Amino acid sequence: MMLLSFCIFTLSLNVVFSMVIPCRPPKNSSDITPFQLTLIAPSTRACNISAPFTDECRTAEQAAPFINKAFTDYAIASVGEKAAILSLMLFETGEFKFDRNHFPAPGRPGQGTRNLMTFPFVHQYALDTPSTHSRALALAGTNATDPSITNDTMNAVRDLVLGDELGFASAMWCGSTRPTRQGWENYITGCAFTGVTGDRTAVWEKTVSVLSLSL
Ligand SMILES: *[C@@H]1O[C@H](CO)[C@@H](O)[C@H](O)[C@H]1NC(C)=O
Ligand SMILES: *[C@@H]1O[C@H](CO)[C@@H](O)[C@H](O)[C@H]1NC(C)=O
Ligand SMILES: *[C@@H]1O[C@H](CO)[C@@H](O)[C@H](O)[C@H]1NC(C)=O
Ligand SMILES: *[C@@H]1O[C@H](CO)[C@@H](O)[C@H](O)[C@H]1NC(C)=O
Repeated sequence: MMLLSFCIFTLSLNVVFSMVIPCRPPKNSSDITPFQLTLIAPSTRACNISAPFTDECRTAEQAAPFINKAFTDYAIASVGEKAAILSLMLFETGEFKFDRNHFPAPGRPGQGTRNLMTFPFVHQYALDTPSTHSRALALAGTNATDPSITNDTMNAVRDLVLGDELGFASAMWCGSTRPTRQGWENYITGCAFTGVTGDRTAVWEKTVSVLSLSL
């Protein structure tokens, strides 16, 4: 019954948006489906090839496997925690439209990934990740606030972690390694350098409700 209504809803979305949304039960019931992502963030149904930064855009279909892998890798399983992380990622990246800070142009050096972490976090993430550790160390050393680190170097360190596998996992890394895991408010303040606003709370509440449905 649940599956049936899911398929019918999907069909009507297909008519409106001419996008293929998978109509099948999720492999792992705790995985977030592309369909759930599109319910939370409708613009993730497709990437607009005329929009700016189109090479940075990812659809729900493209993003979901990387998000699920990261939740598994960092052993993040509860709906509340997944919703906190996912809503932050969607909010910070304009719903996966970009993975670097662009505003105001040319954007803050070294800030990026799918939770748009500021450079000190990007740098620590690159150092913590075995596949990027030595390159990050060679580029920028161990002290992110060393004044000899240029903007270009910050961007080069960021480039190490922008691939989808690492880019979509940085929020989970941040949520798991910062001493702020208990609270969503602390979490987003720590990892994104921003405060909790009504906009963010709305995305978070919507995410909790969609992830609580069994589709
Ligand atoms: C696609 O992006 C262009 C340029 O930003 C914009 O004018 C247009 O309205 C967008 N189309 C859709 C369907 O969002
Ligand atoms: C399903 O997800 C849970 C939580 O991430 C994980 O522990 C489990 O191994 C997964 N099962 C399968 C069959 O992938
Ligand atoms: C580095 O970036 C900062 C912050 O955007 C900017 O104020 C500064 O002018 C940049 N430095 C150089 C040398 O471009
Ligand atoms: C990092 O560099 C800054 C600026 O030179 C310095 O104030 C700070 O003490 C350094 N931190 C560490 C841990 O060495």
